[in-house]
Amino acid sequence: MTRFIVFANRKGGCGKTTTAVNVAHCLAEKRRKVLLLDIDPQAHAGTSLGHMVSGEDAGVMALLSEKKSLSDVLVDSSIPGLSLVPASRELTAFEIDNSVIPGSETCLSERLTDPVSEFDYVIIDPPPTVGLLTVMALAAARTPAQVLLELSGSWDDSREADEIIRQIRNSRTKSMKLKDGL
Ligand SMILES: Nc1ncnc2c1ncn2[C@@H]1O[C@H](COP(=O)(O)OP(=O)(O)OP(=O)(O)O)[C@@H](O)[C@H]1O
Ligand SMILES: [Mg+2]
Repeated sequence: MTRFIVFANRKGGCGKTTTAVNVAHCLAEKRRKVLLLDIDPQAHAGTSLGHMVSGEDAGVMALLSEKKSLSDVLVDSSIPGLSLVPASRELTAFEIDNSVIPGSETCLSERLTDPVSEFDYVIIDPPPTVGLLTVMALAAARTPAQVLLELSGSWDDSREADEIIRQIRNSRTKSMKLKDGL
């Protein structure tokens, strides 16, 4: 069964992307088939693996706008077993345009069709916000899902983690179960 991991925190620069890329790399080295999904307009996960895309016809933007399927936007990284869907800055406009549309938080989930089930892990790197893109990532994380909250021990980190937990609890996604003690 495909396991989803979302690295989420509204606090910027706390190591979400670094952790996502390194965990993805380590899992691939352990011969797991891994999909790294970059949904941050900063696109750092993709660029750190050498993939830069732009425009609405490429990467995760093409997937969300239904111009291309998942298999069309998947790219292989230089690491065997690790595939990537790169992000682009156009995601900012996507978030602004779609935030007020009811039900848009399931948009990513609906687009993650086959070959997603071929992966052992789908790792999602969202932006440092609790806007539509992060909510979409949380909603796409099917059971069993793991939401890793980056915590350095600082007060503001803990405060932002509380906000993410509140968002998860309020999520309209019925399929997502919150692990006890998260
Ligand atoms: N464990 C670590 N030790 C030292 N530096 C780190 C560590 N993890 C990340 N960094 C550095 O911290 C900076 C921010 O990391 P990163 O981009 O992964 O954060 P982020 O949470 O994804 O940021 P953003 O919120 O902007 O997406 C980078 O320069 C990265 O190299
Ligand atoms: Mg990041």
